[in-house]
Amino acid sequence: MHEDMDPHSAPGREGHGRTWAKAILLGEHSVVYGHPAIAVALHDLRMEATATPITGPSHLASLGYSGPLASSPQGFACVARAFEAAREFAGRMDQSFAIATRSDFPHERGLGSSAAASGAIIRAVLDACGRSASAEELFALTQMAEQVAHGRPSGLDAAATCAPGPIRFQGGRMTPLSQRIEGACLVIADSGVHGSTRQAVEGLRARYEQDAQGIGALIGRLGELTTTAEVALDEGEAPALGAAMDQAHAILAELELSLPVLDRLTAAARGAGALGAKLTGGGLGGCIIALAGDPGAAGRIGSALRQAGAATTWTYRMRTSEIREAERWQ
Ligand code: PMV
Repeated sequence: MHEDMDPHSAPGREGHGRTWAKAILLGEHSVVYGHPAIAVALHDLRMEATATPITGPSHLASLGYSGPLASSPQGFACVARAFEAAREFAGRMDQSFAIATRSDFPHERGLGSSAAASGAIIRAVLDACGRSASAEELFALTQMAEQVAHGRPSGLDAAATCAPGPIRFQGGRMTPLSQRIEGACLVIADSGVHGSTRQAVEGLRARYEQDAQGIGALIGRLGELTTTAEVALDEGEAPALGAAMDQAHAILAELELSLPVLDRLTAAARGAGALGAKLTGGGLGGCIIALAGDPGAAGRIGSALRQAGAATTWTYRMRTSEIREAERWQ
C-alpha cells in the first residue's frame, strides 16, 4: 500500500453529484391534491456530494451527521435510502462508500434539502460506479428516498432540485416553463424555525377530511393562482406574479400553514416594496420568498427582512428561460 493512501480506501474512482436548493413559487400543498405547482432551482445555492469507494462499512457525512451510514439517526433515513437505491440501481451492493455532502443552504427550511441531498448522493454513487441514468430514472430514485422523508411526496422537490430552469409540476409530471420576467429578484428569507413538511401535509389532510368542501375550495383557489402565476411568468408580468404570491400566502395562512413569524416577514417584505411575498414549501416554519422588481429593491427588502428577524436572506436573480430541447433535462 502506498504510504499516503487512506487505509480504508478501495480501488475505484470518486464520484460527484450536484443538485440545488429549490423554491416553490406557487402551488405548495395544493400540488398534493392534483393541482399544478411552479418551482425554480436556486442555482446559486448548491448541494454537492462525493462518493468515495472504501473498504469496511459505508460512512456518511451529511447535513450535520458524520458516522457509519448504518447507524445514522432516523432523520437521515432518506439519504441512507438514496444511497442504497443508487447502489442497487448500479448493481454494486457489494461496494462500500464514504459519502459526503456539502451545501450552501440550511436543511428543514423548505428549500428542498432532503431531495437535493438524495439527488446529489444518487448522482455521486452512479458516477463512482460509472453507471449512467436517464432523467426519469434519476427522478424515480430520488422519489424512493423522498418517500422515506415525507410519506407520499408529490415529487415536486425531486424534480425542482435538479431542474435547469423553472418547472411546472402536476400529477407526477414536470414540464419546463418559459420565464420572461427580466431583472426581477427573489429574496428568500429563513425564519430560523424548523418546519416539518410531513406534519404540515398530514395536518392539512386531517382538516381536509373533516371539511372536504371548505378546505377543498381553498386548495382549488391555490391551484388557480398557480395558473395565474404561470401566465405571468410567460408574459414577463412581475406585478401579476407578486399579486398571486400575496393571495397564495393569505390562503396558506387560512389553511393554518403559516406562523406569526412568517406573516411578520412577508409583511416586512411588502412594507419594503416587494411586489408580493409568501411562505414557500411546507410552511409551519422554514422560509418565505419575496419578489423584488430589481436588484436595488431586493437589497432594501433583504435588509428589512433581516431587521424583522430573518436568520439569513439570499437573493436570486430571475433569469429569462426559454423552453429548450430535451437534453437540457439530462
Ligand atoms: O417543505 P418542502 O420544501 O419540502 O415542500 C413541500 C411541498 C409540499 O407541497 C407541501 C409537499 C409535497 O409533497 O409537494
